[in-house]
Amino acid sequence: MEGTFIESAPMLKVSEMAENLIGSEILKIAAEINKKIEEGEKVYNFTVGDFDPTLFQIPEILKNEIAQAYLSDQTNYPPANGLLELREAISRYLHTRLGLEYNEDQILISSGARPLIYSIFKAVLDPNDKVIIPVPSWNNNHYAHLNYGSPVFIETDPEDNFLPTAEKLKSHIQDAKMITLCSPLNPTGTIFDRVQLTKICEMVIEENKKRGEYKKPIYMLFDQVYWNLIYGSNIHMDPVSLIPEMKNYTIFVDGISKSFAATGVRVGWGFGPLKVIQKMKAILGHIGAWAPKPEQTGLAKFFKYDDQIDAYLNNFKNQIHERLMTFHNGFQDLKEEGFKVDAIFPQSSIYLTVQLNLIGMKTPNGDRISNATDISRYLLKEGSIGIVPFYAFGASKNSTWFRISVGTCKLNDIEGFFSNLKEAIRKLS
Ligand SMILES: Cc1ncc(COP(=O)(O)O)c(C=O)c1O
Repeated sequence: MEGTFIESAPMLKVSEMAENLIGSEILKIAAEINKKIEEGEKVYNFTVGDFDPTLFQIPEILKNEIAQAYLSDQTNYPPANGLLELREAISRYLHTRLGLEYNEDQILISSGARPLIYSIFKAVLDPNDKVIIPVPSWNNNHYAHLNYGSPVFIETDPEDNFLPTAEKLKSHIQDAKMITLCSPLNPTGTIFDRVQLTKICEMVIEENKKRGEYKKPIYMLFDQVYWNLIYGSNIHMDPVSLIPEMKNYTIFVDGISKSFAATGVRVGWGFGPLKVIQKMKAILGHIGAWAPKPEQTGLAKFFKYDDQIDAYLNNFKNQIHERLMTFHNGFQDLKEEGFKVDAIFPQSSIYLTVQLNLIGMKTPNGDRISNATDISRYLLKEGSIGIVPFYAFGASKNSTWFRISVGTCKLNDIEGFFSNLKEAIRKLS
């Protein structure tokens, strides 16, 4: 019978890698929350790093240009490294907006940022190569696993805005083949300052000088997908603008998913040393991780509208920033009232870092809260609040820091969030 084979399927042997691949912790938490929502419960769900499209839409011109590309039948394969018009548009965009000089051959288009990260790991790491991954950070652990890398996780501190320092990385750099950096950082919404990033880059340059040209250098994966979403007087820092020699070793990851609320549109771009980009192109070519051609055509046209891009970003950033500040101020008020909470001032992205120092307290049932999982469970059960603990981003289970994502947040939900939070914390003893 057909069913007999299906029932025995879980026993089938698969690769060690596939067997041990773990899913995204964030999506697991989100699934629990969605179940509650389906059951009709009102949940303040600020878990996923996505946007509610009823609140945040992609730019109107981009939408129309993509639709136009479908209407004019731009529906065959795009070139493996992306449409030339789009790579040219991105080359200009990098030049005018970031002062970075990359020609169209040094740029690779793919279906969002994820395939680029995958192909960077694949292009520069051999099995068991050491890769330095500061944590908390987003998903690099999974890319290391997929590529049989040997990750070293370095836990960062709130005093450093959760970004790594050269001092913390120093003892690991000699035999590492790659370091993964992200700024603005998911999950924290914080950014590198000039001195901090410069010191790390200087260390990389010095290490690569020691290795000489016949040994594999240490590369830097620099993920800047949130760089457009920086607030106030903060400035985006990148390795190559700080130290031009870093151009030989830096592979950038960028895209429209976060900057233009376009997570479902799926266009990202990587840029870096020609040889690495060509290898990434070869790898992704076999996977077929191209961005759809109509999206590429539409985006190339959209990038010509500089003023409209500025206007869109201005409005989008104001709306996100208002939410981040409202949460931040709410947490500061609670702190002043004596609650054991805190928040880091928002600098960028769609995330706020908050602390809920509830470990050791007793729930109304008499259970002791002993780690971040217990805090999350309690908040969801008693407060109908969904936020992501930093352990889901590789920090320790004892970390009392959490990420609030505001991309799905209605401004007038924030008041209800705080009244639930207060109520839930008050019930603890
Ligand atoms: C830091 C960072 N890089 C890359 C990505 C992936 O972006 P995409 O949706 O374009 O694959 C994300 C998504 O959450 C992210 O937070």
